[in-house]
Amino acid sequence: MNADAYVIVGASLAGAKAAETLRGEGFGGPVLLIGEETERPYERPPLSKDYLLGEAERESIYVHPAGWYAEHDIDLRLDARVTGLDPAAHEVMLADGSRAGYAKLLLATGSSPLRLPVPGSDANGVHYLRRVADSDQIKAAFAAASRVAVIGAGWIGLETTAAGRAAGVEVTVLEAAELPLLRALGREAAQVFADLHRDHGVDLRFGAQVAEITGTGGRADGVRLADGTRVDADAVIVGIGITPNIQLAEAAGLKVGNGIIADAALRTSDPDVYAAGDVANAYHPLLGKHIRVDHWYNALHQPQTAAKAMIGQDAAYDRVPYFYTDQYDLSMEYAGYVEPDGYDQVVFRGDVGRREFIAFWLGGGRVLAGMNVNIFGVNDTIQAIVRRGRTVDTGRLTDPDVPLEEFLGD
Ligand SMILES: Cc1cc2nc3c(=O)[nH]c(=O)nc-3n(C[C@H](O)[C@H](O)[C@H](O)COP(=O)(O)OP(=O)(O)OC[C@H]3O[C@@H](n4cnc5c(N)ncnc54)[C@H](O)[C@@H]3O)c2cc1C
Ligand SMILES: NC(=O)c1ccc[n+]([C@@H]2O[C@H](COP(=O)([O-])OP(=O)(O)OC[C@H]3O[C@@H](n4cnc5c(N)ncnc54)[C@H](O)[C@@H]3O)[C@@H](O)[C@H]2O)c1
Repeated sequence: MNADAYVIVGASLAGAKAAETLRGEGFGGPVLLIGEETERPYERPPLSKDYLLGEAERESIYVHPAGWYAEHDIDLRLDARVTGLDPAAHEVMLADGSRAGYAKLLLATGSSPLRLPVPGSDANGVHYLRRVADSDQIKAAFAAASRVAVIGAGWIGLETTAAGRAAGVEVTVLEAAELPLLRALGREAAQVFADLHRDHGVDLRFGAQVAEITGTGGRADGVRLADGTRVDADAVIVGIGITPNIQLAEAAGLKVGNGIIADAALRTSDPDVYAAGDVANAYHPLLGKHIRVDHWYNALHQPQTAAKAMIGQDAAYDRVPYFYTDQYDLSMEYAGYVEPDGYDQVVFRGDVGRREFIAFWLGGGRVLAGMNVNIFGVNDTIQAIVRRGRTVDTGRLTDPDVPLEEFLGD
């Protein structure tokens, strides 16, 4: 047991980036990176996009080459689950009964898919998508199936639907809300995604209440809705949201609430324990409140701040939140942070019908967020406009002939 060690729990994107930053910033002490998966750290976005489509090789998903961890003297322990945390003793407990001491600890435990609480949801042929093995299974299901039902029209649901259509599968999407991505984008922009999928032959059903996943011989064969409607399917994909993996922190008495509560340096309520990535609900200085962001860009950058703070540097995470998606021939990037009722206007610049535009969410005349759809090379400017936080003339903002840079000046 090494009490000088910096221990990272969760060996995915956030954990791997924290280890990389510790070494990059010159930390020479022991670094232990513990993960319950059997794979070395990998990125999840390809699992619902090019990897699922069969367009990206397995090797392309990993955060680092296989030899990188040993070369950087990082003790990577895979297939190892941390079962407990003792902040007073500065130790974590592992499932094999061993313990590891730490000087500083980073919790990068990420999030897990919500399970659908209806009969049949654990039958064979029902897929959740979080890990690379899930993606492999869905790819195999697309190859074997002719009809798939997708429950949830969020990011997982829509990206797997696009991959299913590319594989030639008929897809029925069953969404509880009135539009796809409603919580993330609001009604105005969500409509664009409904139109996109309908244009690609997807049967989209909103206000759907799933009552049961039906099956024969333990194998899913369709979905029954509360109104009695039946949707036949050879496989079912469920993407109804995630829950942050706070269990270790909560049991150890750290402050939690929609994630592990952390300050701008990613320090939790225990001064030697940090949190980053999907699991962190961190104070964001630019927004002036705590936010939890379950997107790739946050898991890429936030642990760099945490690692710097762990070695005593003055660090604060204040990047403008960012995410992206690729579905069919639509690529979009989104920068900013808007809660469902946190804006009073959405304006469009460009051609919404052709799906080549920028949408801006405004509150009190200020740009809170912007989303560029099939317009490339503008997201850095959108981030800068959001960061600047001044009121804008919406007539000029929506005029494609007015350069976006105008909204960066004084
Ligand atoms: C299919 C898919 C596609 C996505 N596509 C996009 C995208 O296009 N754009 C975007 O912005 N975001 C996307 N995301 C979200 C993005 O992948 C996540 O935000 C990111 O993975 C979060 O990284 P993380 O390291 O914080 O957590 P995670 O990736 O969840 O990793 C946490 C790791 O910790 C491990 N762990 C948890 N508890 C323990 C324990 N007690 N002991 C040991 N190990 C433990 C977990 O098994 C896991 O390996 C996608 C997510 C998925 C699932
Ligand atoms: N491009 C991206 O940014 C991207 C891509 C894939 C995954 N992810 C991440 O993966 C995680 C999981 O994504 P997700 O799509 O599962 O979650 P999500 O929150 O994006 O969407 C869940 C959807 O399921 C619906 N829903 C909830 N319960 C339902 C029910 N019982 N029946 C029908 N619909 C129901 C919700 O209304 C919502 O539209 C998130 O953290 C997400 O950010 C992100």
